[in-house]
Parts: sequence; C-alpha cells; structure tokens
Amino acid sequence: MPSSNWWRTAAIYEIYVRSFADGNGDGEGDLIGLRERLPYLKDLGVDAIWLTPFYRSPMVDGGYDVADYRDVDPMFGTLADFDAMLAAAHALDIRVIVDIVPNHTSAQHAWFTEALASPPGSLARDRYIFRNSGDEPPNDWESIFGGRAWTRTPDGEWYLHLFDPGQPDLNWDNADVRAEFESVLRFWLDRGVDGFRVDVAHGMVKEAGLPSVGHPQQIGLLGREPLPYFDQDGVHEIYRAWRKILDSYPGDRMAVAEAWASTPLRLARYVAPDELHQAFNFDFLAAPWSARELRATIDACIEAADSVGAPTTWVLSNHDKPRHVTRFGSPGTARAAALLMLALPGAVYLYQGEELGLPEVLDLPAEARQDPVWHRSGGTDPGRDGCRVPLPWDASLPAYGFSTTGRSWLPQPDWAGLAASAQQGVPSSFLELYRTALRLRRTFTGPLTWHDSPAGVLDFTRDGVRCVVNLSGAAVPVPAGSVVLASGDLLDGTLPPDAAVWLRA
Ligand code: GLC
Repeated sequence: MPSSNWWRTAAIYEIYVRSFADGNGDGEGDLIGLRERLPYLKDLGVDAIWLTPFYRSPMVDGGYDVADYRDVDPMFGTLADFDAMLAAAHALDIRVIVDIVPNHTSAQHAWFTEALASPPGSLARDRYIFRNSGDEPPNDWESIFGGRAWTRTPDGEWYLHLFDPGQPDLNWDNADVRAEFESVLRFWLDRGVDGFRVDVAHGMVKEAGLPSVGHPQQIGLLGREPLPYFDQDGVHEIYRAWRKILDSYPGDRMAVAEAWASTPLRLARYVAPDELHQAFNFDFLAAPWSARELRATIDACIEAADSVGAPTTWVLSNHDKPRHVTRFGSPGTARAAALLMLALPGAVYLYQGEELGLPEVLDLPAEARQDPVWHRSGGTDPGRDGCRVPLPWDASLPAYGFSTTGRSWLPQPDWAGLAASAQQGVPSSFLELYRTALRLRRTFTGPLTWHDSPAGVLDFTRDGVRCVVNLSGAAVPVPAGSVVLASGDLLDGTLPPDAAVWLRA
C-alpha cells in the first residue's frame, strides 16, 4: 500500500459495526458480515474504514462502554474474526482505523468492579473520579446524555460519568490509566491496525478542583464556551505521548480526534505536528445550508488546520447525528452537499448509508429504541437510534439482506428503493453519484481558490475541478467548462437551486 501520509486526502468510511452487515444471522452486525462486504467498499472507492467499538461491552452505549479493550465482544465475533477482516481489508488496500474510548470505561470493566469493592481512598478508586461530598453531588456538572454527571455508591461516595452511569470517567492523573492506554494502543498496533479514532478526545483531563459550571444546560454550549470538563490544556500531553507510540510503528499509522473545542484554533491544537493527525470538523457538519455560512466555515477550518500544517477533514453525518438527507430536508440537497464536501481539500469521513441516501428514521417504536439518550431524557429526546438502523443491501431479501435470517436489531422502514442492489448501476442513483465522485476526487489536488459568485452561490477551483454549488433560491448560469458530474439535472445550461456541479478545471 502506498504509505506516505495517506490520511491527508483519504476518504474514510465510518462503519457502525452493529448496523453494517450481520454474518451470523442474529440480527446484529458483526465482523464476519463486515468482511463479506469489503468488496462493496472497495468498489465504492474508499481508502479506509473506521470501525466503531466492537470490544467486550454490556452495550449500555452501543459499545462506547468498554469492559475489555483487548477483546472482541461475542456479539461482533472473535479476535480471529478481527484478524481475518483486517487481513482481507489490507488485501484490498483498505486501511482500518479502530475506535479507542479513553475518557471512560464500562462500569463492568474489571477496574471499576475492583474500585467499587475497594474502600474510599484506595488505589483502585483513584483510577476513577470518586468524591465524598455528602448528600449533594460534588459539583453541578451535567451528563451529556441528560441528568447529573454523578452517581452515588452505597458507601456514600459519588463517581463522575460525563455520559451514562454505566460509563465511569477515568482519572487521567493516575499513572496506571496512562500506562494502560499506551499498552492498549500497542496491542492493536501490533495486530496491524492503521490508526485510531479517539473518542471524546477533549474530555480526559478535568479542571483542577472540579469547579462547578454555574448554570444548567451545559451541553447546549458544547464547543461554544469553555467547560471545566472539556478541552483542558493538560490533555495535549497525553497526545504527545501517543504520537511517539504511533510514530514508532512502520506504515504511517494515524489518529483522528473526536474533539469539541470552542474555536477552530483551539481544535487545531489537537493536530499539532507532535500530537494527533486529524480532528473531525464538526463546524462543517453543524453549518446550515447557507453559502455565506458554509464559505466562512470552510475558510476558518482550512486556516486553522493550515496554522499547524494539518489537513482539514470534512464530515456531514456520523452515528451520533441525524442523517443529513433529513437535516437538509431533501435528497437533492444532500447530493449537492456531498459534491461540495468531496471537492474540498483534505480528508473526508463518510458515514455508512450516506452513499445510499438513507434518511434519518424518525418513527422507531419506543420499545425498539436503545440509545441511553432516549432513556435518560425520559423519551423527550429521540436519541441516535434513527441514524443507526441496519443497512439495506438487497431489495429482494428479508431485512433487505442485512442478515442471513432477516433479523434486524432495529426495525427498518420501507427501504427497498434505497437498497444497494436497487441503486447499483443506476446512473442517477446516490450510490453511483458517490462512486463517481470518489473516483474523480482522487485526481483533485492543491488548495482551493474562490471565484467571485452571485449571492448564495459557492464557486471554487482546485487543480482538477471547478465546483459550483447553488444555495440560492433561483437557477444560476453554469460557468464555462465541461460538466464532469452534477448532483441533478441541469436546466438549459443553468444550475437549479440546491444543486452542485463539477466542471473540468
Ligand atoms: C462519542 C461517541 C458517542 C458516544 C460518546 C461516549 O461522542 O461518538 O457515540 O456515546 O462518545 O463514549
């Protein structure tokens, strides 16, 4: 595999393993099912896959509650299945990035069980964040999933969990914790993984003294205001140590941060040359469908990444956010957004099913929902199950071919028309748009230059492409040049609203 900084321009495809493909018929996606579908991904044209956690877990938070970082949960298979999948991916020149969850463990992790069984003040408790503050919790911190971030143990101490009570936060001031994660990184690097997606990369270090925020609804501020439990300066020392480990392995290993910071410049600190390689660009994901806002976001993100020599990344959907077909309100707009994203310089992260144009599933029955967000909000927040519905592979099979038995851990809506089999070879389909775009994208190089354009229109050139996106309410003329790809039909040489076109530059 060509190895030089492959991640700088890669198209990386996120696999929510539980919902991708089920190889053993139990209705839960697994590593065998994933291995069987690798040729599809090769055909799609991705450079790498990122796998959400498949480690031993009680699945309180879809596997982001890890009970054993060095083993595969039986739901997903075995370590041997992992090795076979990895070898098959590498044989197809597809790199594999795995999720690492260092902010918290599962409450069923051996360390937490030991901590609960040990007295206050013990070494076992020091690996987590326990406090004795009497009947009131130690501070006003809120769980990202709703409710307070502290749970009381029977002996009266409170422990911190920024997420579910089943996900106790680790104490990164404890040397055992640092050593353990360095060892876990090596475990997977030794097996041959190409990198890591670092979960809640901005969370591990908390402000000294654990001060209260001072007001409720803290999570609404995520990424907009400093919080004592996020983006603390001390976290960077951890990544400097991790980078040394990654660099000590051959083959261009990398890490991408899931980090929320209050400004693009603070986010850029995570991707300094001696830290991680990339960070997700949630500003792009969160930007409204507005030419002015998107252009400002694109410029700010490129400038911030350039300031530390890192590539930008772009993402429209992931396993935590409503799918962008639904967010933007129409498949046509989602197609235009995809052409915008895929023309930009840097790396892109695709979420499984976006290449099929899947919408968010809004009407899942309450009893099917599994996300702790749904449960902790008392059903007022639908949570994230709607973007995690198992993929439709084959229109003619039960569960659309997701499993061999027709089982599916979340019910699928009528997706016959969106199944991969129904789109394959249909030029106007989402799937073929993504395939063509991913193939052409490989030929684009260099930075982006904006052209003057009418209000509501984005128009830029890179070596290999000119991309024009019409976010205004009226059709606009298409600039001169031969059309190589369009998100929809052009009308008499004009680009309709909510459409995008690629021209040969
Ligand atoms: C990240 C994951 C999300 C998970 C949370 C807690 O945000 O993407 O799915 O619930 O971390 O680990």
